This record gives sequence, structure tokens and C-alpha cells, in this order.
Amino acid sequence: MSRKISAVTDNLVKPYGGTLIDLLVDERRRALLKKESSGFMSVTLSQRQLCDLELLMNGAFSPLHGFMPQDIYESVLRDTRLPNGLPWSIPINLDVPNAIAQRLKIGDYLGLNDPEGFMLAVLHVEDIWKPDRKREAELVYGTSSPAHPGVRYLHEQVHGTYVGGGVEGMQAPMHYDFETLRDTPEELRHLFDKMGWRRVVGFHTSKPMHRLHRDITLQTAKEAGASILLHPAVGMTKPGDLHYYARVHCYQAIRRHYPHDLTVLSLLPIAVRMAGPREALHNAIVRQNYGCSHFIVGPEHCAPPDVRAGGTRFYPTYAAQELVARYQDDLAIRIIPVKERRYVPENDQFQPADEIERNGKIGVLFTEKELYHCLAHNREIPSWYSFPDVITELRKVCPPRNRQGITLFFTGLSGAGKSTLAKIMYAKFIEAGGRPVTLLDGDVVRRNLSSELGFSKEHRDLNIRRIGFVASEITKNGGIAICAPIAPYAATRRAVRELVEQHGAFIEIHVATPIEVCEGRDHKGLYAKARKGLIKEFTGVSDPYEEPEKPEIRLDTTSVTPRAAVRQIFSYLLQHDYIDYINDAEQFLGAQTIDNDGSYI
Ligand code: PPS
Repeated sequence: MSRKISAVTDNLVKPYGGTLIDLLVDERRRALLKKESSGFMSVTLSQRQLCDLELLMNGAFSPLHGFMPQDIYESVLRDTRLPNGLPWSIPINLDVPNAIAQRLKIGDYLGLNDPEGFMLAVLHVEDIWKPDRKREAELVYGTSSPAHPGVRYLHEQVHGTYVGGGVEGMQAPMHYDFETLRDTPEELRHLFDKMGWRRVVGFHTSKPMHRLHRDITLQTAKEAGASILLHPAVGMTKPGDLHYYARVHCYQAIRRHYPHDLTVLSLLPIAVRMAGPREALHNAIVRQNYGCSHFIVGPEHCAPPDVRAGGTRFYPTYAAQELVARYQDDLAIRIIPVKERRYVPENDQFQPADEIERNGKIGVLFTEKELYHCLAHNREIPSWYSFPDVITELRKVCPPRNRQGITLFFTGLSGAGKSTLAKIMYAKFIEAGGRPVTLLDGDVVRRNLSSELGFSKEHRDLNIRRIGFVASEITKNGGIAICAPIAPYAATRRAVRELVEQHGAFIEIHVATPIEVCEGRDHKGLYAKARKGLIKEFTGVSDPYEEPEKPEIRLDTTSVTPRAAVRQIFSYLLQHDYIDYINDAEQFLGAQTIDNDGSYI
């Protein structure tokens, strides 16, 4: 079924398993599959599945020929190896919605479509099974805690049925951005060959690169007598990671600080799992397929975000290096472990933390969290930390908070006061000018965007996800989205937060007015109807409301006027620099801010 790409050269490290797999079929086969495809069932791929499919098709996941059937999946989970003994650490599975799984049979062809409905590949169904996702989480991520974003993704986004089988590729997913920076394994191998490179050290990152990264890569390359492949992940990255289009400008800037003939920058459309040690091995294998002879594994390789800034730690520092070292003898690619480093002002160098301690020197750490804090509050960034041109690029995409997009997300019971506050905020932002503002009120959205939806959990979630999608687009483009739905479910609110925070601030405002007060107001007469059973699934009466645990703002409108409540919100925005103290404070907090106190409707 698959074509094996001819070895480009013997100079470079061999692809993993010996040959580079190419799953793209030829013209004739493509035409035939296309003709027959009207009889196939099809599935629309998620962003992660699209990334996996692309790397399966172009050989980055060699020697895999498709999405894993159950025996391979089990072997990877249990032994960290493929059934033929080759180390493999991350399961590459196709999960499908129940509605499709129920109709699918072994032997069927399943069309794999991109979100626009274009058929990219066909899967020959060899296996259909329901995985134990808790076990998968424990074996792959080393934890089943939903606090781990990879585990959470597995439980919340991955469907309950897996389908395995060989893939015939019809068309690689299209990318219209940074086209000159995108290479298949075959293309990179050709490039390395053309440049006469035999040894290449691969560097993986999903973050902007700074002086420390440049030092590490240059030093490693020097010691290994190798050239450098800067190979950032630009598929699906971690929550909180800067979007890749912003990072690529930073990479292009730092690329200019590398020796020109010794460095290639190429973008890898891989979906990051945050599986720490297991992912380090996976990343190394992928880089071998791209022609790297060496691969750098950092002290916290592919760990969930913020470990250095007090975030939950799931893997000990160096755990990734230890796991990869156990498999080193089975790999052609050499792993270069890099120690935790700090900046030493005394000699203007980055040095291993243990060495610094031994020598009684002082090492300085400037975390990513501090970097984004400085950017958000328009503060200076230490010159030892990064290059001015990288910082210029970062400042473009991370403008100070008072120029960033924001989503103000009100949540609370019907009658809590969400709409009143949202409307006033909207009016004040419009009056102030500057950023474009959009109001996405619960009722208004239901009339326009979600008119076909009811109030089941499924429909409510869909409604909130739609609002979240629109808000994230507005935020991405530097606008202010003010949303005021009930949004009763914590997991859905968190999903919206993650979506929005890729582009700007998400400020959750819990309007925590107690149900007795909301019911007492009952402006729409809905509570009375709900109590009589005339309205089913009414939030707070016959349907749940999960209170936000840590909203940015919590306010109760029982005994505060709308004016006072809005002031509270604007004070928060001022304190956290989301609005400008000099230019906006009077506008938002001045005596004439709101003409009359009004009442909550
Ligand atoms: S949700 O849960 O976030 O999707 O709800 P939302 O889109 O905000 O819609 C809530 C508004 O719809 C009216 N309404 C109901 N609310 C709750 N439960 C039930 N069953 C229901 N049926 C109708 C109600 O007026 C809500 O508006 P607000 O502005 O919150 O009072």
C-alpha cells in the first residue's frame, strides 16, 4: 500500500526502522479512491488527528503505516515498543464519534476529512475497540489526574472508540503560511545532503527561543561536530503556548544570530502531548526520520506548562533524559541531555545550576511567566535573557494588556445581573473608543447563533463553545468580547478559557447572586414557570450550576447597584493594566460613569 522513499544518501542517519514511509498514493489510485469514496463513511479530523495524519503520511512517524490497531497500541502502552521490538512511546490512534463507530465494520474504508470536508486519506479499518482511557493516561502520562492537560484532553476531547488500520494518503494537509519553512522528512534529508551535512543536531521547542536556547544549541552542535536543525512544533501545542504564527517571527529573528551555513529552521506540524519522558523518546524518533543524528533533550522536556514557575509537577526534572537513555542503544539518533542552567551575571554566561552551586556563585532564573508579565505590563526585559529583535517580535504579538484583546466572560444564574452589567460594560467601552467591542449576551446569542438549541447539557455546551469560538476570534484580533451566558458547566468554561487565552486575556466574572435573589427578581417570570414544571431543565431549579472555583472576579449583586458592581470590574481591569490608568480611568470610574443606578434586569 505504501511507497518506500529511496534512501537519499548513506551519509545521513537511516530513517527509523530502515526506510522512510510515504503513504501518499499515486494519481491512478487517488482517482480510483476518489471515485469510490461516495460509498465510504467519513470522519472529520480534529486538529490533533490532522497533525498525526500529516506525519504518518510524510514518513515522520516511520515505520508506522497508519493509525495503530489494538495489538500495536497495547504493545506501545505496555512495553514502550512496537510488536517488532522497536521502541515506540506514544500511541497514535484514530478516535471516532460513537455515531460513526456504531456503523463501522472491519474491512470498511473510512474517509479522513479535513475540517472543510476535503478527503485527505482513506483508512482501511482493521480494528475497532474501546480503550481504557484511564489506563492509557497512567501508562502514557504517568498519571490519571485531570490536572494534567494531556490527560484532560484524553478524557474530554478524545472519543471512546478507536479505529486502527493502514492509511492511503490522497493529499497532504495544506498549509498556506510560512510555506518556505515547511519540509517533509524527505525534503530535509535532501537539503542536508545538498549541504553536505552528515551530522545534524535537532532542537525541539514549542516556545519562543532566547539566548539560553541559542547557547545550548550552539554548544551542543560544536561538541557533536554537527549542524543545527531548529525544529519547532507548530501543530497543536500546549495550552498557554504562544500561537505558532507569532513564534515563527521570533524564530526567524533568532535564526539571524546563528552561523548562516550551519543552521536550518523548519516547522514541524506535530501535536504536542505533554507526556514528558515518553514524548522525549517520541520526539527523538521523529527527528531521526527527519535526518538528525543528534537530539537535544532538556531537563523538563515536554512537561505540562509552568513547572519552573510553580505549576503542578508531573515528572521529576531529568525524568525525560533518564527514560530516553534507557532506549539509547536501540536508537541510531544520539540523545544529548542538557542540564538545568541559570544565568551567571558575574561572567555573563549560562551555566549548569549544580555547577553554579558547587562554585558558590549566584545563578539567575527569569521564567517564562516573568517574561509574559513584563510584556503585559510594558516593563523592560533583561538584556541577558534575549535578543532585542526577538523581543521586538514578541512585543508585536504580546502588546501591553491595555492594547490586547480581552474576553470578559460573565457567568451566573438567570436573573443574577449578568446582562445588565455586560450592557453597561459594553456601553462604556464603546464610549471610550480604542478597541472594538462586541456583546454576546446569552439571550441574544440564543436568538441568532444558537436558535436551534435547547437546554440539555449537550446543547448548553455547544452554545457555550460557539460563544467561546466567536470570543476567541474577537480576542485574537485585538477586540473586546463581552459574553454573558449562564454557562453552568466548569469544564466547558475551562475549554473556552483555553481557547481564548491562546490570543489574549480571559476574565471570568462570576455573578454570584444567590438563587433566592434571582428568583425574587424573576423579571422574565421564568422561575415561576420552572417551579410549576412548565420549563424543564431550568438552571438552579431543575438543572445544575457548577460554581467557578477561581474566577478573576466574583460579585454578588444582591445589595450593590449596577454602578457599584461595574466599578468593581473596572477597578480590577485598571489594577491589572487591562485599561489605561491615565487615559481611561476617568472615563470608566468617573463620577458621571453611569447616569443612574438602574436595577438588574
Ligand atoms: S446556557 O446554559 O449558558 O447555554 O444558557 P444561555 O444561553 O445563557 O441562556 C439562558 C437564557 O435562556 C433563558 N432560559 C433558560 N435559562 C436556563 N435554563 C432554562 N431551562 C432556560 N430556558 C430559557 C433565560 O432567560 C436565560 O437568560 P438569562 O439572561 O440568563 O436570564
